[in-house]
Amino acid sequence: MKFFIDTANLNQIKEAASLGVLDGVTTNPSLMAKEGIKGKDNILKHYVDICNLVDGDVSAEVLATGFSEIIQEGEMLASLHENIVVKVPMINNGLKALRYFSEKGIRTNCTLVFSPGQALLAAKAGANYVSPFIGRIDDISSDGLQLIADIRLIYDNYGFETEILAASIRHAMHIIECARLGADVATCPLQPILDLLQHPLTDKGLEKFLADSKKFI
Ligand code: G3P
Repeated sequence: MKFFIDTANLNQIKEAASLGVLDGVTTNPSLMAKEGIKGKDNILKHYVDICNLVDGDVSAEVLATGFSEIIQEGEMLASLHENIVVKVPMINNGLKALRYFSEKGIRTNCTLVFSPGQALLAAKAGANYVSPFIGRIDDISSDGLQLIADIRLIYDNYGFETEILAASIRHAMHIIECARLGADVATCPLQPILDLLQHPLTDKGLEKFLADSKKFI
């Protein structure tokens, strides 16, 4: 399973990369806004800065919603760095753009996916990644993990190569469950990745080993 970090914060990306288990980055307009970056040139530079920190895919989202505007913006984003994956929303024009980008060899991540039908369309259109938002589904008292299971089954039934990028992950157990269900990628903030490290028996065991080591050192 690949681990992506879901942030536009350079320090958090550096910290995640230093753990040695980071495979990529996902961003979205809300995460970019959180960093307080303003102006087109600064935003584009920020994407390049992120690409230079990580040896892996970096999703950069289009803001346009018209077909030709999505194409124009996506081509510009893709030209910034070889690691850029163009993030396209699951809307009518987004679907058409996924097909266009696929034929042009521009890699894509179809975002804002909340149903198996949307995921099926994204795969048929040639998306490289599909991003089901599991936490937001849980937020409305539905079952985000069931969506991952449904997409895995559908993609395996037909041999679709689109990678399932589980997004809107809120805690470490989401990552474990997504791994059990066969998601290809989990993207989340730094904390759930750090939480995977934790176990009280590890702490207790280390404490005892260190205490015992004092007896022979
Ligand atoms: O990658 C999509 C993700 O950023 C959404 O997460 O926590 O805003 O639902 P969240």
